[in-house]
Amino acid sequence: MSRLQLLLLSICASTITLASLVHATDHIVGANQGWNPGINYTLWANNHTFYVGDLISFRYQKTQYNVFEVNQTGYDNCTTEGAVGNWSSGKDFIPLDKAKRYYFICGNGGCFSGMKVSVVVHDLPSPPHAGAGKQKEKNGAGGGGAGSVPVLPLLVAWIVLFFAYWVSFN
Ligand SMILES: *[C@@H]1O[C@H](CO)[C@@H](O)[C@H](O)[C@H]1NC(C)=O
Ligand SMILES: *[C@@H]1O[C@H](CO)[C@@H](O)[C@H](O)[C@H]1NC(C)=O
Ligand SMILES: *[C@@H]1O[C@H](CO)[C@@H](O)[C@H](O)[C@H]1NC(C)=O
Ligand SMILES: *[C@@H]1O[C@H](CO)[C@@H](O)[C@H](O)[C@H]1NC(C)=O
Ligand SMILES: *[C@@H]1O[C@H](CO)[C@@H](O)[C@H](O)[C@H]1NC(C)=O
Repeated sequence: MSRLQLLLLSICASTITLASLVHATDHIVGANQGWNPGINYTLWANNHTFYVGDLISFRYQKTQYNVFEVNQTGYDNCTTEGAVGNWSSGKDFIPLDKAKRYYFICGNGGCFSGMKVSVVVHDLPSPPHAGAGKQKEKNGAGGGGAGSVPVLPLLVAWIVLFFAYWVSFN
C-alpha cells in the first residue's frame, strides 16, 4: 500500500469513528459568559436539551469560585451539606450519566448571586434508525449548544491517524 492510500484509509477510519459517536455533547454552562455571578442559568438551561452521556462543564476563575453538586434543598437554600461532589479546577467537565435532575451551585457564596443551575437529563433518544435526522436537526438548532466535544472518538481518530502516518514513513 502506498503512503497516500494509507493516509486516505486512516482519514476514512477517523471520520467514521467520529461520525458514529458525535452524540455526546459538552454543555458549557453560561456559554461564553461561563460560571459567574449575575447570570440567570435557568434561562441557559431552558435553552439546552441534556441527554445521558453528555457532559456539563463549568469554566471560571478557580481562585474565586467552585462547583458543588447538591440536592434540591442545597439548590434552593444555597447550602452544600450532603453534597454529592465538588470541583474546583476552573475547567470542570462533569459527566451526566443518569436520567434525572441535577443541581449544581457555587459553594463559596456565589450561589446567592445566581451561581446555581439545575438541569434535567433525559434518556438517549432512540438510536439511528427512527428519526435520527430529525433529532440531529433539533440538537443543531437549539439543544446542543456550544461545542460538541466527542472526546474519546476524537482521541481514537487521532491515534489511528497518527499511527497510520507514522507507519507510512517507516
Ligand atoms: C430566571 O429566569 C426565569 C425564567 O424567565 C425566571 O423564572 C427566574 O425568576 C429568573 N431568575 C432570576 C434569579 O432572575
Ligand atoms: C438560546 O439559543 C439561541 C440559539 O442557539 C441563542 O441565540 C440564544 O442566545 C440562547 N439564549 C440563551 C439565554 O442562552
Ligand atoms: C431552606 O430554606 C427554607 C426557607 O428559605 C427553610 O424553610 C428550610 O428549612 C431550609 N431547609 C434547610 C434544609 O435548611
Ligand atoms: C438534601 O441533603 C440534606 C443533607 O444530607 C438533607 O437534609 C435533605 O433532606 C436533602 N434534601 C432532599 C430534597 O433530598
Ligand atoms: C470535596 O470532595 C472530596 C472528595 O472528592 C471530599 O473529600 C471533600 O470533603 C469535599 N469537600 C467539601 C467541602 O465537601
